[in-house]
Amino acid sequence: MSIDRAEPAARILKVRRVAPDREDTTTLPGGSRSFNFIQVIGKFIDAVKYRLLCHVLSHMRVLKCVFAILRRIRPIMLVGNVLIVTKARDVREVLERFDDFVLGDSIEPGMPWGPFLMTVDWRDQHARERQMLQSVVEPATDLEHIRLIARTICRSRVAIAMATGRIDIVADLAEPVMVGIIADYFGIAPLDGDEDRMARAMRHLAGIIMVNPPIGSKAWFDSREDISALTQQVLDQIATARVGAEANFSGARQTLLARLVRRHGQSSGPAWFDEDWIRRYLTGLVATGGATIVRGATHAIDQMLARPEALQHAITLAESLDRTEKADGGGSPARPGGANAEQVREALRQCIYEALRFRPMLPLLVRDCPRRTVIAKGTPHARLVPAGTRVLAPPLAAMFDPDVFPDAERFQQRSIDSYFHFGFGPRHCFGKYIADIVMLEIVRALVCLPRLERATGPAGEVNYDGLAPCSCMATFEPRNAGVMR
Ligand code: HEM
Repeated sequence: MSIDRAEPAARILKVRRVAPDREDTTTLPGGSRSFNFIQVIGKFIDAVKYRLLCHVLSHMRVLKCVFAILRRIRPIMLVGNVLIVTKARDVREVLERFDDFVLGDSIEPGMPWGPFLMTVDWRDQHARERQMLQSVVEPATDLEHIRLIARTICRSRVAIAMATGRIDIVADLAEPVMVGIIADYFGIAPLDGDEDRMARAMRHLAGIIMVNPPIGSKAWFDSREDISALTQQVLDQIATARVGAEANFSGARQTLLARLVRRHGQSSGPAWFDEDWIRRYLTGLVATGGATIVRGATHAIDQMLARPEALQHAITLAESLDRTEKADGGGSPARPGGANAEQVREALRQCIYEALRFRPMLPLLVRDCPRRTVIAKGTPHARLVPAGTRVLAPPLAAMFDPDVFPDAERFQQRSIDSYFHFGFGPRHCFGKYIADIVMLEIVRALVCLPRLERATGPAGEVNYDGLAPCSCMATFEPRNAGVMR
């Protein structure tokens, strides 16, 4: 199926284009005053619940304490129809058992642009669709391309900040990098050609996947407007890529979008692989890949700034990486050095994962249990899980389990495979290869700034728009821009 270019994005999404301030009582039966009052109270309670949930999922202290207590007294606890799992091995078991703990129902409301990898609960179909996406990734060249984009933007953004000695980790660095990756690697240019507008859309899209704002709230309307605009943008770019593919124009470098369109044009692929699939999956990648990296990189830096020994460790590794890349004959973004450089990168990555452990990008993962089963079979805390149970499998709890993370309150070197940041099993993060490179380049660009520290006051804390960070100000010793590494 090919998408009619003229088909309005709003129709595909069934988005109501109504401004929040015009959402009045005209649709209410009778428009009675008492009904209005009850509705206002209901909206207020929903708004408070939403803000509270966003706060708890971003600041995490309360969650961490609750999980620590549960892990001691009742590692698998059923409250009503919600099951909370707090030991690392059990969290991992839930994530790895694809058929017994499904994701589709809980995540679908956060993906109103249509079915995406995360809403597919049929194992074989999930594997097929994931493989389709994977088939257009070209590791041999993509990794260096991603590194080049990230590093070039980091360098230019840091050079601008050099004059003032102040940098907003989110708005001046992480967001521009991700807008660049989405444009040059995914193949979706900024909405209205405006990078700030695109960064806002990234926040809103990621926000609704993690916690859907109350229907009718400003955040809800903003997200629908952004999805609508993004859908139109993706449709336009699919149409352009189709023209390029038909003319057999290979272009200097193919984006993920262009590769998918070309593949669709070339082969008699499966019936489900049509241009609408490409639209839904590209939108899904923007939603799962944009603000997630911004949140991950910002949380990691935030935790390094809170721990001088962690920051010093990151600085030492970043400087060592610079030297190793040069010694290996690389050093420019396009020639990143050889095996030695990769070893130092792995050490810096471990340092980032360890910092992120104290404030994970995703503290909580959710599943539903479609039929009765047992968790932690063969252990003293094995538990029967009734059908219809919602299961909370929190990476935040798992990464403080002393069985796998001894001396968990200390920042230290651990095996890089032990972390839960990117999930486990058939649903492990598809974009880890991008996140690993981009987070490293962002952290590296920041920690090498002379006398980097958190700005004083609330500006120096991570501030959020829903669940997506929108600012976090740091200061450093300003230098002449010409003195850049
Ligand atoms: C710091 C950055 C990121 C973190 C910490 C992260 C974390 C995760 C986690 C924990 C999951 C598993 C979710 C679950 O089991 O319920 C996941 C899945 C996924 N991630 Fe990421 N992610 C990041 C960046 C990205 C990026 C950059 C992309 C895309 C370009 C991406 C695309 C996906 C997709 C498509 C899935 C679903 C995989 C599936 O269902 O098969 N993620 N991610």
